[in-house]
Amino acid sequence: MHIVHTIAELRSHLEQFKRAAFVPTMGNLHEGHLTLIGQARPLGDVTVASIFVNRLQFLPHEDFDTYPRTWDSDCEKLQAAGCDLLFAPNEKELYPEPQTFKMHPPAELADILEGYFRPGFFVGVCTVVMKLFACVQPRVAVFGKKDYQQLMVIRRMVQQFALPIEIVGGETTRAPDGLALSSRNGYLSEGERTEAVQLSLALKAMATALKAGTHDIGALEDQAMRTLTARGWHPDYMVARRRSDLQAPQPGDALVVLGAAKLGATRLIDNLEV
Ligand code: PAF
Repeated sequence: MHIVHTIAELRSHLEQFKRAAFVPTMGNLHEGHLTLIGQARPLGDVTVASIFVNRLQFLPHEDFDTYPRTWDSDCEKLQAAGCDLLFAPNEKELYPEPQTFKMHPPAELADILEGYFRPGFFVGVCTVVMKLFACVQPRVAVFGKKDYQQLMVIRRMVQQFALPIEIVGGETTRAPDGLALSSRNGYLSEGERTEAVQLSLALKAMATALKAGTHDIGALEDQAMRTLTARGWHPDYMVARRRSDLQAPQPGDALVVLGAAKLGATRLIDNLEV
């Protein structure tokens, strides 16, 4: 695997290829990221990953400073997964001056759910993804469905700006007990790690009830919030939404259930397509 830290080196290395398949990450890689690399590989003639912890998408009280930076093991994992090129710019390379031009995704998509609880999050995500797209110029980019709303926001951005990039969604990789793999799982204590699966179980219970024909979605959402709260969680939301735009569903819509909740100091998110 070739490693580059500057945009100039990246562009020069990519000149010989026609169809880059790209997986952007913030590092601290786990099996879920590597599955995305595996998914990207047959889609291009060069597989590119990026590692960049993007300050713009963290709120001031969030974990930007403590976000795990695991460079050596990330490189080993990417190499073993068959990644060809790693782009790992530092902040000065990607943001040489304050990034005052920003991407503002539409409120109806980006100020709900994650965007409601993390104001400005999707501005930060879209801005860096747009910039990474400008650097890598991929034909295909793979994003995990674990960050369902992020995938949707990016799809819409690419569509509205007519970027010639195919956005592919990768299925969520789960631990044997069902917990969705996430870089933030590493923050959990042993006891919290055992409890953490309850988020996916609560979403599963919602999905099962919806499949069985439950119509009272509000009651289902309240029940899921109460279940987690009773177990000591602090849920932000547990909702059933229309898959196409994450708005409240109408009869017949394809659904996704999404949840975000804090367990101790760790905020976890998960979702399931129904
Ligand atoms: O999902 C992530 O890891 C990040 O939000 C992304 C897409 C790499 C942008 O920083």
